[in-house]
Amino acid sequence: MILSVRDFAIGFQREGQNLVAVDGISFDVEAGETFVIIGESGSGKSLTGMSIAGLQPPTAFVSGSIRFKDREMLKRPDAELRKLRGPEIGLIYQDPLSSLNPVWP
Ligand SMILES: Nc1ncnc2c1ncn2[C@@H]1O[C@H](COP(=O)(O)OP(=O)(O)OP(=O)(O)O)[C@@H](O)[C@H]1O
Ligand SMILES: [Mg+2]
Repeated sequence: MILSVRDFAIGFQREGQNLVAVDGISFDVEAGETFVIIGESGSGKSLTGMSIAGLQPPTAFVSGSIRFKDREMLKRPDAELRKLRGPEIGLIYQDPLSSLNPVWP
């Protein structure tokens, strides 16, 4: 198992209220497996993907667990996360032409 997400939740505080964007999801991904999350706009796909890379918005509250290669991503220091991004975890953002521009190797 390369990735294990357990009871992951993420949300924001607004006007003293907790607005929950993702309310407790769990899934596992094996090395080499292609795993797809499909959902309506605003259902939390991007927040989930960003959180796997440790890039959740700093204003967000998170709970649960995201383990990548048996280590907890939600508690890793920024310096360690930065070393993982690129060599181990890559992201193609929602505007793919800016990520896959051939003049930016
Ligand atoms: N930084 C933020 N502050 C407050 N709310 C946010 C923030 N980022 C996302 N949200 C809210 O969290 C919810 C989930 O957003 P997310 O971008 O993960 O959805 P999505 O499934 O990727 O949608 P889409 O298909 O439109 O890309 C939305 O209601 C969004 O408005
Ligand atoms: Mg999105």
